[in-house]
Amino acid sequence: MAIGTEFKPTILGFLCNWCCYGGADLCGVSRFQYPPYLRVIRLMCSGRVDLEFIFRAFAKGADGVFIGGCHLNDCHYNPEGNYDALGNTLIAKKILEHVGVNPERLRLEWVSAGEGIRFAEVMNDFSMKVKNLGPFGSSEGIDIAELQSRLDATIQLVPYIKLVERERLRVPVWTDEGYRKFFGSDEFNELFNELILDKLIMSRIMGFLRVKPVSAGEISESLGLDPSEVARHLHDLAQQGLIWFDESQTLVAAA
Ligand code: FES
Repeated sequence: MAIGTEFKPTILGFLCNWCCYGGADLCGVSRFQYPPYLRVIRLMCSGRVDLEFIFRAFAKGADGVFIGGCHLNDCHYNPEGNYDALGNTLIAKKILEHVGVNPERLRLEWVSAGEGIRFAEVMNDFSMKVKNLGPFGSSEGIDIAELQSRLDATIQLVPYIKLVERERLRVPVWTDEGYRKFFGSDEFNELFNELILDKLIMSRIMGFLRVKPVSAGEISESLGLDPSEVARHLHDLAQQGLIWFDESQTLVAAA
């Protein structure tokens, strides 16, 4: 961004066709105002917003991502659609935090087709929040290329994360409170560390090695991890046949 130029964030919005998109439409015909930062993708249900969509949006340069769905228990397909969106958003926020992206850049809201004014209020608030955070990477204090490479490593892992989510991170109660309680619990944090965090680190290590051979010390330095922790991950990757040492004892990714 050129010096002296006003920052105009790019916000990618995934809006459910039946409620939030209707709310956005009503907002428009009612001439309620909000900043022109939103780029809309219309989906049939907020539950269709895959984790990959969120990470890819940021990796492609979005400064904020907005997900808008029907109010809880008003989903037009089955009661689960927007609960899936809620679970995905809470997991995505946790992962974003881990890779160094401010989770405030991601927002989920429920807006009905009759709530045009609420849509404008939400978008005014979120637009200002993202604008105050600044361009993607600036509030994080991390080089954008580094952030993108972390997000790319995360995208590689999405199929695995979805499997974990389906098998081990099912929330027993379908209420907003139940979801937030579960995703803020020690039980979830332990599962996240055990099932997702380690795999994220391994995915980032593989990301390095796909670019060029590196030493364990370089990986440790780049990831800011203790050498013993790096050694543990390298051992696991070697056991899975994903990496090996070449003749100069440099790590390379298996072909
Ligand atoms: Fe709107 Fe499912 S149809 S959230």
